[in-house]
Amino acid sequence: MVDKIADKAGTFSIGGKLKVNRLGYGAMRITGKGIWGEPDDREGALATLKRLPELGVDFIDTADSYGPDISEWLIKDALHPYNEVRIATKGGLTRTGPNVWIPVGRPEYLRQQVHKSLRNLGVEQIDLWQLHRIDDKVPADEQFGAIKEFLDEGLIAHAGLSEVSVAEIEAANKVFPVATVQNRYNLVDRTSEDVLDYCAANNIGFIPWFPLAAGDLANPGSLLDEIARKHDAAPSQIALAWVLKRSPVMLPIPGTSKVKHLEENVAAANITLSDEEFAALDAEGKKAFAKAA
Ligand SMILES: NC(=O)c1ccc[n+]([C@@H]2O[C@H](COP(=O)([O-])OP(=O)(O)OC[C@H]3O[C@@H](n4cnc5c(N)ncnc54)[C@H](OP(=O)(O)O)[C@@H]3O)[C@@H](O)[C@H]2O)c1
Repeated sequence: MVDKIADKAGTFSIGGKLKVNRLGYGAMRITGKGIWGEPDDREGALATLKRLPELGVDFIDTADSYGPDISEWLIKDALHPYNEVRIATKGGLTRTGPNVWIPVGRPEYLRQQVHKSLRNLGVEQIDLWQLHRIDDKVPADEQFGAIKEFLDEGLIAHAGLSEVSVAEIEAANKVFPVATVQNRYNLVDRTSEDVLDYCAANNIGFIPWFPLAAGDLANPGSLLDEIARKHDAAPSQIALAWVLKRSPVMLPIPGTSKVKHLEENVAAANITLSDEEFAALDAEGKKAFAKAA
């Protein structure tokens, strides 16, 4: 019998309705270099995606801009009709070359991208659609108003934001219910600590991207290294276990193109840090963040 390890991370209900295991997967790394074009190892990318439900991972994050389109196409090829797996995608960034990401928030463009994602993923409704960036060249309320229309028309079931402040979440919430926020967050990048606390207080799912990072904290002989040895784990698994313990609204989406790395990441759901270990890592992470600032 296959062990659905991700079940051990516990669940969160996005928008109070869409129940997912808290340990998800980010599908940005299954494209070519610079998140551009086809991956070098297409079979490896498909195998990684197919392994997700076997491991109990039922929440996948992607975006129209990953490839562009390639990530959504691969997800469809590997997993359609999805069964229990929920797909979150994003729109609002255009791609003019490798590693180039230019926000475009004009409502007609956002609408076009929602329709493209529906087709790319082969679904009639997107489980969770996120505005990849608020475009500062377009009034924010026009972007939020477009999202409300997508919700009202049933094109998307839930909507979220990415790389936003508390003030921006509050402004958006006046126009549509913000179900999730996706900001960069990890043990040593605590820029969004206030946003995370706001999300926890308002039952908004917080999706930390780049969740595996531990910076110099992972160096041999460090506290993190010592805790990792005690749990017979890799430092990145401890960093992920710490992120998961940080808040019940936390939905990390570690990304990889390799089955082996996926299995290692998901195994972090098996690790239970003690309150003392959590607090000691928290203090070290905050210290490293302050030093780097
Ligand atoms: N909202 C946004 O603006 C935004 C921005 C960036 C990312 N994201 C989302 O967040 C997800 C995660 O972010 P991320 O990919 O930047 O960070 P990450 O998941 O923390 O790290 C991914 C990197 O670590 C490597 N890796 C993963 N597991 C590993 C393991 N067990 N051992 C060794 N190396 C490992 C991957 O390479 P391999 O492929 O070789 O494993 C990749 O280079 C993305 O997939 C995407 O869905 C969102």
